[in-house]
Amino acid sequence: MEYSIKSGNPEKQRTACLAGGIFEPRKMSPTIQQIDQASGGIISSMLRRGDIEGKLGQTLLLHNLPGMACERVLLVGCGREKAFSEGPFRQMAAKATSVLNETGTMDASLFLTELPVKGRDSNWKIRHFIEAAEDALYRFDQLKSEKDKERRPLRRMALFVNSRTELGQGEIALQQAVAISGGISLARDLGNLPGNICTPSYLAEQAHALAGEWPIETHVLEEADMEKLGMGALLSVSRGSRQPAKLITMEYRGGPEDEAPVVLVGKGLTFDAGGISIKPAANMDEMKYDMCGGASVFGTLQAVAAMGLPINLIGVVPSSENLPDGDANKPGDVVTTLSGQTVEILNTDAEGRLILCDALTYCERFEPAMVVDIATLTGACVIALGHHASGLMGNNDKLIKELLNAGVYAHDRVWQLPLWDEYQKQLDSNFADMANIGGRPGGSITAGCFLSRYTKKMAWAHLDIAGTAWKTGKEKGATGRPVGLLSQFILGRCNRNENTKGR
Ligand code: BES
Ligand code: MN
Ligand code: ZN
Repeated sequence: MEYSIKSGNPEKQRTACLAGGIFEPRKMSPTIQQIDQASGGIISSMLRRGDIEGKLGQTLLLHNLPGMACERVLLVGCGREKAFSEGPFRQMAAKATSVLNETGTMDASLFLTELPVKGRDSNWKIRHFIEAAEDALYRFDQLKSEKDKERRPLRRMALFVNSRTELGQGEIALQQAVAISGGISLARDLGNLPGNICTPSYLAEQAHALAGEWPIETHVLEEADMEKLGMGALLSVSRGSRQPAKLITMEYRGGPEDEAPVVLVGKGLTFDAGGISIKPAANMDEMKYDMCGGASVFGTLQAVAAMGLPINLIGVVPSSENLPDGDANKPGDVVTTLSGQTVEILNTDAEGRLILCDALTYCERFEPAMVVDIATLTGACVIALGHHASGLMGNNDKLIKELLNAGVYAHDRVWQLPLWDEYQKQLDSNFADMANIGGRPGGSITAGCFLSRYTKKMAWAHLDIAGTAWKTGKEKGATGRPVGLLSQFILGRCNRNENTKGR
């Protein structure tokens, strides 16, 4: 899609379709009022007759309105004006985009980012309109032999702002939205690919491809390298698989040479059958999504590189399969991690923390300003928070706050869980420094506790995206979360640097 930011008079727009908002019950936005007047009150008489109520998601397409330079006008229901907050705004944007895409309109002028959303400026609205539009237009049909193509797909959308003075800022918001949407879409593609295609080696190839397209440097550690380093935990997970594990590092150096990097570590488990502690068969296909943390690291790196942000950002993706096999790790096995600490593997299905702990220790070499890991780590997190918020834990309050705020702005929200010391003893083992599971109570928290033992030397946060990385059921598919949150987090850090410059 091609986007542009414009300002101007609705009557004068020579466009195939103009779109404006109607609030419930039957209330015209200022732009629609203006159009109504120019066209002799046609819209107000339609509203009186009850053609459209203005409910969120309702739409009505009008043809050949007198006094208008455009061919058609799309009325878009926005729900109650008082309830028109971030979520409804994004739903409205998605609906308007899908309808325009299906009506054979090739270009559209949208007077929808002008609608007031409490506490949000036009930057926010442009960012989210475009991100919601791209989300709605996303298709994953690479593996279908017949693709259902729109006959005449929408190609250009002009988003209108209230005044010319907003055009410059709007343009920046547009570019950010396009970059972030690109990252989200990359993460969705990687997530949606099945385990037989998206293997650790495939992810490593994609990391090299990313380096070919953007100013990113990729390095991949092979199992032999990991052996030399002593990554006993990561390697134990990979034992049951015929696909070799990879440890992928992607470096984007957009900041000053001497500035400590932000490091993102993403779980890249390309298929999690549970290993010897095998999972039940129902919905096991969804464990192809167990690399979505890694995918979000790919997506965020691409988004940040596309925005050309002045920051040093490193992505680390430990990647493996977790399968049962004669050579697989077993319950009771004790392994030595890269940190030197030993782990008793009481459940081979708690493999995410095993590949992450070695990757997190590996991060020490980058002397990071902070490390954020992202993982589809625990089913317990889905029980605790459902599918709306990702779980957040960490050892640094400032970092936690930054992530919470970035999540709100990006509408990719997270909720903090406690990492109190009292939980740590659930990981006690009779045979090693710790067990890899802490029992059912607080399952997401004890997983966080496990990781905290490998991040003592760093400012660290952990995002459990088990409930948010993909949708199940009829709409099954990767969401691209939390690329929006992470991109906003990085943007926020860059703005902060900007603001403190010269002070
Ligand atoms: N990848 C799963 C977590 C998961 C399960 C995410 C279901 C989304 C939906 C992880 O590797 C896992 O299996 N975790 C176990 C941990 C348990 C054995 C302590 C779990 O959550 O059951
Ligand atoms: Mn597992
Ligand atoms: Zn897993």
